[in-house]
Amino acid sequence: MEKVVISLGGSVVSSNAVNIDFIKAFVKAIEGMPSLSKCGIVVGGGSLARGYIEPLRSEGINNYFLDRIGIKATRLNAELIVNLLKDVENVIPESIDEALSAWKNRKFVVMGGTIPGHTTDTVAMLLAEASGIGEFINGTSVDGVYSKDPRAGGGSKKFENLTYSEALSLSIESYKNAGSNVFMDPVSLLIARRANINIHVIKGDLPENYINIMEMNKKIGTLIS
Ligand code: UTP
Repeated sequence: MEKVVISLGGSVVSSNAVNIDFIKAFVKAIEGMPSLSKCGIVVGGGSLARGYIEPLRSEGINNYFLDRIGIKATRLNAELIVNLLKDVENVIPESIDEALSAWKNRKFVVMGGTIPGHTTDTVAMLLAEASGIGEFINGTSVDGVYSKDPRAGGGSKKFENLTYSEALSLSIESYKNAGSNVFMDPVSLLIARRANINIHVIKGDLPENYINIMEMNKKIGTLIS
């Protein structure tokens, strides 16, 4: 791949502690790819976001203010990547427009969330659409899209390929079940569909997965197209 946007799940960069070994290996992998000329990386909030959001949710704080905290967590996680990369502006853009300017003369741009009401999957997809990039990698905690959350156990099937409409149905269905993990939020899938962006859902904490998919063109995870 020459140009790509990566949505890096918060759980991939940090779970109980910062996953520094993964981060170093990830940075080494993407910096060592000869064919890569532009790469946007949008980092999620993971347990850092949840650790701040859940206690305040219990106190009845509304989602707008909880989202505002989540955004701060995503930007803190983004700092983990931006400080180790070389060809990047060492500031975290707070909007897609800021990201586009920070990216102009650089190979990489790294950011977290932007505004309340969506997740970093949507931010990453908007970044891909705005920059005219047709390849999107969702590095997440599972190795693809399943018919049911594989961690819940009990006969779930992994998909190798999905259409946008099939992925949207699965995403909306998961949204109905409180507390379930959605592989990608529906808004990000709607943007992918209107912009015709290929989505590769892969297990995000294995640096070799990025090499396999970006350099070796191997088919791993689930392709939504
Ligand atoms: P994430 O993108 O990590 O949310 O942002 P998520 O998909 O729910 O988390 P994972 O992938 O399961 O770990 C964390 C939180 O930050 C807020 C939302 O509250 C989100 O749940 N957020 C993030 C925004 O409100 N706007 C953004 O642009 C990004």
